[in-house]
Amino acid sequence: MKTLTTSQKEKIKKAAELLVNSKHSIILTGAGISTESGIPDFRGEDGIWDKYKPEIYGDIESFLRDPSKFWKMAREIAPTLFDAEPNPGHYALAELEKMRIIKAIITQNVDELHQKAGAVIVYEVHGNINRFSCLGCRASYTKEQVLNKLKKGRKSAPLCNYCGAPLKPSVVLFGEDLPKFEKYMSIDLAKKTDIMLIAGSSLTVAPICDLPVYTLSGGGKLIIVNDQPTHLDDKAEIVLNHKTGIILPLIVEEIKKIKIERESELSI
Ligand code: APR
Repeated sequence: MKTLTTSQKEKIKKAAELLVNSKHSIILTGAGISTESGIPDFRGEDGIWDKYKPEIYGDIESFLRDPSKFWKMAREIAPTLFDAEPNPGHYALAELEKMRIIKAIITQNVDELHQKAGAVIVYEVHGNINRFSCLGCRASYTKEQVLNKLKKGRKSAPLCNYCGAPLKPSVVLFGEDLPKFEKYMSIDLAKKTDIMLIAGSSLTVAPICDLPVYTLSGGGKLIIVNDQPTHLDDKAEIVLNHKTGIILPLIVEEIKKIKIERESELSI
């Protein structure tokens, strides 16, 4: 495992100070925070889009023309996705919410791992893989019902019991609109926040990649934790190119130390 440099340790302390002094900090997460739970990301090393072209496997027009392509990719990823458990990065962010350090987690992820780790104020701007509906009659199906359909070994898309149309998970594909409430709430939070911590995102997909720019133009600051550089690194207050599962718990540890020091000063 990559060890921390002195500079990274200093940056972790600085990030903790920024967060503990912030009035309404928020978190933006991407697929990178879930790779340590075994779920592949999209553009990192061995990312999903290396194997499956997004314009064929991740696009709504392509899905409507031939849903079996999306479902071929989904069959491969679904077991990992459905069985995944939160990792220390998810638990660290849930703890920041419990400590009232952050106002919300805006996530591009559909794996529900933030909620499984105990966070509740989570805005899923790209939907959620645990809900499915029929493209024909809008009947809705649970993950278990869809998994049973997939197990029946059909190569094509799982079909609706009633009208026979293909099912689609409630995830946002390229070419689809984002859920309105989550989208506009995220933009409002991004404009108002004084600190946005970004964890595990390449910041390449609009409109969510614009959120940090709203924060900057509102005078807010960015903390970026990502194991690859992003195009906003030069505008960030702090950049930590390391694993979220390592860095985020260390930031929480530093915040706890600061809070204990402050409480002991007050009690003198
Ligand atoms: N720790 C830190 N960074 C990581 C880790 C990790 N453990 N694992 C991966 N990363 C980094 C990768 O290097 C990459 O820069 O996380 C980033 C993930 O970027 P993407 O794969 O592009 O994921 P994301 O930014 O969430 O993509 C946004 O694109 O395809 C759509 O809908 C999809 O929601 C997704 C959106």
